[in-house]
Amino acid sequence: MTTHRIAILAGDGIGPEIMREALKVLRLVEERTGVRFKLTDTPFGAQAYFDHGHPFPDATKAVCDAADAILKGPVGLSYEATKQIPVDLQPERGAVLPLRARYNTYANFRPIVLPRALAHFSPLRAEIIGEGIDILLIRELVGGLYFGTKTVGVDAQGHRYVEEALRYDEIQIKQVLKRALELAQRRKGVLHNIHKSNVLKSSVLWNEVLEEMAPAYPDVKIVHMLVDAAATHLCLNPRQFDVMVMENMFGDILSDQGGGIIGSLGLMPSACIGDAKAYYEPSHGSAPDIAGRGIANPYSMIGSAAMMLEHSFGMAAEARAIWAAMQSVFADGYSTADLTQPGSTARIISTTEFGDKVVAKLREAPITS
Ligand code: IPM
Ligand code: MN
Repeated sequence: MTTHRIAILAGDGIGPEIMREALKVLRLVEERTGVRFKLTDTPFGAQAYFDHGHPFPDATKAVCDAADAILKGPVGLSYEATKQIPVDLQPERGAVLPLRARYNTYANFRPIVLPRALAHFSPLRAEIIGEGIDILLIRELVGGLYFGTKTVGVDAQGHRYVEEALRYDEIQIKQVLKRALELAQRRKGVLHNIHKSNVLKSSVLWNEVLEEMAPAYPDVKIVHMLVDAAATHLCLNPRQFDVMVMENMFGDILSDQGGGIIGSLGLMPSACIGDAKAYYEPSHGSAPDIAGRGIANPYSMIGSAAMMLEHSFGMAAEARAIWAAMQSVFADGYSTADLTQPGSTARIISTTEFGDKVVAKLREAPITS
């Protein structure tokens, strides 16, 4: 019997409630397949700071080190609660970035997917959605501005200043581009390279490295696009994109825009892939304002679990069945609160109801490779 060890970092805010639904789905997958998941709950985030003095406690590091994969919920508490935490121990700087660095999870896959049947969730017109949106946005996750040196000071004139370095070396660029080229090869053979080489020298190096690598992938057509233009194209004609690759900050921003064009950040799961370890998390925050009310959308958390099955455990068929189950719950005319638009006739269901309906669908679903 195969057993996979999974570190469960439920996080803050809506984290625990959406994680609960993802775990229900994993239990059902165990029932259907005979594969076993050994889940270890471990503290991570702002609450972990208050309870244990650190947002990424050593005990959590040990659990993550020993796990085959890590499933993580969103972190962060309210603005007021966050102010009680020293700046460097606030959960983004004190936990999330260190988690990414510890396992060198350099490739962040953020699918932006909206099947035609769910076009009503998008603020874009149905003609623009056409047969559906299916983009894989790949964000470099361990370099650039988010990891550069930072200096805060006061200059000779007494003015406060800050300096943050944007650094990339060719190894970092190559490792993420390799993943992107391989995925483009397996998908439609088109890779949109998103950059800002008219201003940033980091983009000039990025593009140089890509051009050096390209001849080894003759079946991939590379389209270069400036990041500002890409923001517009994502709204006007998202269907031109299949695989997109970009540096860290561009990916942070454009992936949230991706959530916008499909209707909600609640539809944005992600996979953070390193060569030795991967972790999985929703792309959105912990929404402390709605925590505990049972109205959060668990799609991104369940989707992140599906990505874990596919990328860490080779269970692509099970992952596909989960996507299909979630989408068919919505296609049945249900919606979670985040997806509801004025005048919508969809029936709003709670976090738990969504999870239960997905599980019910999966119980009946064929799982075929
Ligand atoms: C994301 C988040 C993170 C980021 C935060 C939580 C550090 O916004 O994963 O997109 O900026 O990368
Ligand atoms: Mn973000």
